[in-house]
Amino acid sequence: MASRLASRLSVVVPSATLAINARAQELRAQGVDVISFGAGEPDFDTPTAIRAAGIRAIEDGRTRYTPVSGIPELRAAIAEQSTRDRAVPATAAMVTVSVGAKGALFNLALALYEPGDEVLIPAPYWVSYPEQVRLLGATPVFLPSTLDAGWKCSPEELARALTPRTKAVLLCSPSNPTGAAYTRAELNALAQVLRPHDCWILADEIYGRLVYDGFEQVSLLTVAPDLLARLVVIDGASKSYAMTGWRVGWSIAPAPLARALDTVQGQGPTSAATMAQYATLEALRIDDAELAPMRALFQARRDRLVAGLRALPGVRCALPEGAFYAFPEIRGWLGRSTPSGLTLSDDLQVTRWLLDEAHVAVVPGSAFGAPGHLRLSYAVGSAAIDEALARLGRAVATLV
Ligand SMILES: Cc1ncc(COP(=O)(O)O)c(C=O)c1O
Repeated sequence: MASRLASRLSVVVPSATLAINARAQELRAQGVDVISFGAGEPDFDTPTAIRAAGIRAIEDGRTRYTPVSGIPELRAAIAEQSTRDRAVPATAAMVTVSVGAKGALFNLALALYEPGDEVLIPAPYWVSYPEQVRLLGATPVFLPSTLDAGWKCSPEELARALTPRTKAVLLCSPSNPTGAAYTRAELNALAQVLRPHDCWILADEIYGRLVYDGFEQVSLLTVAPDLLARLVVIDGASKSYAMTGWRVGWSIAPAPLARALDTVQGQGPTSAATMAQYATLEALRIDDAELAPMRALFQARRDRLVAGLRALPGVRCALPEGAFYAFPEIRGWLGRSTPSGLTLSDDLQVTRWLLDEAHVAVVPGSAFGAPGHLRLSYAVGSAAIDEALARLGRAVATLV
């Protein structure tokens, strides 16, 4: 039958969060006050100056196609920001502005992965990494980490997993879903392992501006500038500047790969939206110090949420260095029964139960390759955090 879907779709799993979101919406439609920790985006509006720049771009007639890899001013500004922050020279020719960082990762997947390739992905991982690899017919290989190891992949684990089939290694720091960020010493140790092994290294640093307690955010590029010819940094405007809906991200890649990404993107989305690129140009003018209030707010929420989670019986939780997620282990709840006689056998069931009984929406850890855990985004106001913790406490007290 010619009118069928491509077979590659059979290997891609639909998002595990969709069913939870649908149920949360159903409850809300019934008038239930659901507190959601599901969102992967800041809960405040894009700053006024950035919004104004987007509006100005439209009014100035910036409504036509741009070059595939982005307007020259933005590529130059991204290169300048990266050179400053990562202390390794980047040029505009290395920058591909894309439709979100997800678009940058998808361009890279199209340009690099093919059947037979293995792509190493530390787990827990962001949901789209393995699915993009599978869509291209390559194989994701997971490097497990544990809460006790601070959710970090060890150099030994990485060394064991590297094979001649390893096409790329995908590192995310700070991480979605754990918030864990590698220190300079940890990155050095990973770079040491990667140095003799010929493969691409993709460093997703989209949460790099969201680190707390004075944590020193270090780029893999900073510790391993000698790997520049096969190291790609992925970054974007979504998380740092509350611009998720503008859909602007980028990659900073060695120039030959950047040319390939231009070819790939030119046959697909073509470019990020013109007015969104001008808005992002304004975002990059924001001094990092101006982001301090946002960081302070996230840090206060993180502290409140993690302390509250740790106080619940049967819960363990690391203190994340960055991003805006907490990733508690809830194994202590598994095997126990709810008053209605439901035995909680896994994190998916826990998620459904919390939504139905406590009206708190969270994401199951299995979606990120870590069963027995939950992901809670603290892009949620403090009052909602307190109320949700109280609800969780009451729900857990009913388990037998
Ligand atoms: C680790 C990570 N990388 C990339 C992205 C993609 O961000 P965007 O496409 O909005 O720029 C996300 C979004 O959730 C993420 O968590």
